[in-house]
Amino acid sequence: KRVAILISGGGSNMVALVNSMTGDHPARPVLVASNDPAAGGLTKAAAHGIATAAVDHRQFGRDRAAFEAALLSHIEAAEPDILCLAGFMRVLTPAFVERFEGRMLNIHPSLLPKYPGLHTHQRAIEAGDAEAGCTVHEVTAVLDDGPILGQARVPVLPGDTADALAGRVLVQEHRLYPEVLRRYAAGDRTTVYL
Ligand code: GRF
Repeated sequence: KRVAILISGGGSNMVALVNSMTGDHPARPVLVASNDPAAGGLTKAAAHGIATAAVDHRQFGRDRAAFEAALLSHIEAAEPDILCLAGFMRVLTPAFVERFEGRMLNIHPSLLPKYPGLHTHQRAIEAGDAEAGCTVHEVTAVLDDGPILGQARVPVLPGDTADALAGRVLVQEHRLYPEVLRRYAAGDRTTVYL
């Protein structure tokens, strides 16, 4: 299977996915694309010999469809079977999602359905949750919704700051996403719980 990965920043989840796709793994990375030409993950992808593309969403103002059309031209040129959103921070229109429905994954730093959207760690801390974590789900038109493919849990510790909790969750993201992708690429839809 051919995997394209969309990033917006450092791409640590992309690196974890790329490093997992070796040997008898049923998938290989074919493109890393970003909405930010300065995304640090683009340099990391290039260092791994993976084709990269950047489409600066700021050049398109409020015309989300035009931005997505430009991004799509790069994605489709790579002919991916699976699209992985990994720290991708742009909301995609239903039209874009429809093109990849059933073959687009995202990782979200909360135990969905709790805390869709932003500031997930701060919200878990403020709610006094004993646990937090991350979720890999299929992307549907509704933000941070869609069938859950895997989750990993971490404790929320007394005195945790959002940054401390984010760091603890990120370690689990790097374990969870590769495990889910391995199964997903092999056609296995059993939910992963770490
Ligand atoms: C992290 O906050 C992670 O929880 C979320 O996206 C952010 C950046 O991830 N998935 P990455 O290092 O760019 O993969």
